[in-house]
Amino acid sequence: MELGRFARHRRLRSTESLRRLVRETELTPAHLVYPMFVEAGLSGRSPIPSMPGQARLGLDALADEARSLVRLGIGGVMLFGLPAAKDETGSGAWAASGIVQQAIPRIKEAAPDLVVIGDVCLCEYTSHGHCGPLAPNGSVDNDAALPLLAETAVSLARAGCDVIAPSDMMDGRVLAIRQALDLAGFAMTPILSYAAKFASGFYGPFREAADSAPAFGDRRGYQMDPANARMAINEVLADIDQGADMVMVKPALPYLDVIRAVREAVTVPLAAYNVSGEYSMLMAAAERGWVDEHRVINETLTAIRRAGADIIITYHAKQWAARR
Ligand code: PBG
Repeated sequence: MELGRFARHRRLRSTESLRRLVRETELTPAHLVYPMFVEAGLSGRSPIPSMPGQARLGLDALADEARSLVRLGIGGVMLFGLPAAKDETGSGAWAASGIVQQAIPRIKEAAPDLVVIGDVCLCEYTSHGHCGPLAPNGSVDNDAALPLLAETAVSLARAGCDVIAPSDMMDGRVLAIRQALDLAGFAMTPILSYAAKFASGFYGPFREAADSAPAFGDRRGYQMDPANARMAINEVLADIDQGADMVMVKPALPYLDVIRAVREAVTVPLAAYNVSGEYSMLMAAAERGWVDEHRVINETLTAIRRAGADIIITYHAKQWAARR
């Protein structure tokens, strides 16, 4: 027993300087990654109604945005594309002139030290909105998706992307992407795998933002069942075995126990995605004056770090960094 009967727990809480001295969890902008939606054909910014304070950006708005993220000390950006056209296979995802392929060099030129992470998934590019091509029975064809995901990863690396982040939840995609990157001369490009991605209702606002809602059915056939934590470890171990340099748990807040379990099971850097529904819920309450916006953002991001995440992908990044 470490604490004697003379312990007064309040002693170390009595001033801000003492509280700061004994604080266990640190949150800095360097830990944060800001997601950006880049829309083909758009000029400037177009607000996203379901995500107050967030906007889709045109190519011409990227340089300024990247520079302001650097000024705030934010660690990186995660890129999502809204293509001019969609098709059955999602070919806009790997087109050399695709929207994200055009966005990357603009960001790298304006902000060379900002880590640019490319989300690899087909759902924003397929006409049916699923994360891979469809088999004749209407299910997503896992093995047919693999070469398309690999080609997408290589095309993003060619455009100058620093980190490749597959979010589709197909089995074997990390290995397929690792092999394709190595073969194409990108052996040094790391993979951040969305390893434990749950089939979540909290993606709702994102699907409006990225125009990626499935046209029929849902994603429960490939994303994880929210009830399963042990299975998340299986996903993480498999992805590390296939070459993932970093892994992710997504969403964050309803899955803090999974973040903690992954943190204890593996030693690679761990990211958590504080997703659109988590963001919009908090912002809606703040708009009504029911919670103090900055305070609950700070508490939320601190909790995700405390659970064990090294990196937090969050729409709050700019607001939080500007006011801390
Ligand atoms: C694409 C993808 C999604 C998100 C990130 N990448 C949506 C989905 O799986 O439906 C969600 C991000 C968010 O809600 O903020 N596969």
